[in-house]
Amino acid sequence: MVYKITLIPGDGIGPEVTGAAVRILEATGIKFEWESFEAGAEAYEKYHEYIPKELVASIERTHVGLKGPVTTPIGGGFASINVELRKRFELYANFRPIRNLPHIPTRYPDVDLIIIRENTEGLYSGIEHEVVPGVVESLKIMTEKASTRIARFAFEHARKNKRKKIHAIHKANIMKLSDGLFLRCARNVAKQYPEITYGEHIVDNTCMQLVMNPYQYDMLLMENLYGDILSDLCAAFVGGLGFVPGANFGDEIAIFEAVHGSAPDIAGKNLANPTAVLRSALLMLRHIGEPDAALKIRNALEKVYRDRDKLTRDVGGRASTSEFADHIIRAMESAEVEQPLTR
Ligand code: NAI
Repeated sequence: MVYKITLIPGDGIGPEVTGAAVRILEATGIKFEWESFEAGAEAYEKYHEYIPKELVASIERTHVGLKGPVTTPIGGGFASINVELRKRFELYANFRPIRNLPHIPTRYPDVDLIIIRENTEGLYSGIEHEVVPGVVESLKIMTEKASTRIARFAFEHARKNKRKKIHAIHKANIMKLSDGLFLRCARNVAKQYPEITYGEHIVDNTCMQLVMNPYQYDMLLMENLYGDILSDLCAAFVGGLGFVPGANFGDEIAIFEAVHGSAPDIAGKNLANPTAVLRSALLMLRHIGEPDAALKIRNALEKVYRDRDKLTRDVGGRASTSEFADHIIRAMESAEVEQPLTR
């Protein structure tokens, strides 16, 4: 079996971190055929398109993408490639597991939290215009279809993975119609999953509750903008964005990506930490039906994280990006597959 995967290395540190992840994935013995494409400014130079047709066709063919970070110009230029890809392929569910790694100092050990964020609508869509000079309007469009679809995704994930609790996060006390609709849809779906405890918290209170005691939550279900903000807050529980994987799921297509940026300050220096993109690749392995390989890499990653010298410099180690990948491959060769992969 050969898995065809669309690879978007991205720019900045993207090619270095995805290159390391690809090397580790291939060391599992699984056969991959990578269809690699540029996106963003680099693609524009070659194809005069930020998301080349060839890339779109490849994703439509493979249904699975692994993506590195792509630089987005601020305050002008082209739209975020991530947002465009989510829209283009209707990747409506953003999935972010938040889980500690050994030896990364954080305020909270043993966090195990999942964030499910609606990816296609709400205020985050940025539908804005200037009514008259000095007055702007920003539209928050919410639909029953998208709210029900994301709630169902969350509850299905909980059922399949034996998670216990889902909290829908909202501001329906103020946004009575839009967030009210989101809650109504979540409640309707929740009724079909009686084994999962369903709760609702207001988003500002949730920020405080999370910082006071993240262990009270199991899964958080949110509309787009709250999900965007709270995902980063939760990343801080496990050491920051450099450790957190991400996935964007549609009904047929899924794109897996690290949530950090292209880090232009360290690009091209073999310094970047590939952990986040590697953890995203583990989600990909589980998605394509290779959980044992995901477990093998996860065990190796956790083993390497027990020895600070083998880590990259951002986490106090001495290894380069490629040396870190070598350490993982070596750890994988000596590791036993023992525990079942549950999360
Ligand atoms: P950034 O995440 O690129 O960098 C912030 C800081 O974290 C920098 O000091 C960087 O060196 C460090 N850092 C990030 N990833 C690292 C890694 N893997 N290993 C070691 N250190 C790492 O965020 P910034 O500077 O705000 O954005 C830079 C560019 O990336 C922007 O153009 C932005 O639009 C884009 N971006 C792209 C994303 C994506 O494609 N998924 C997500 C976020 C930002």
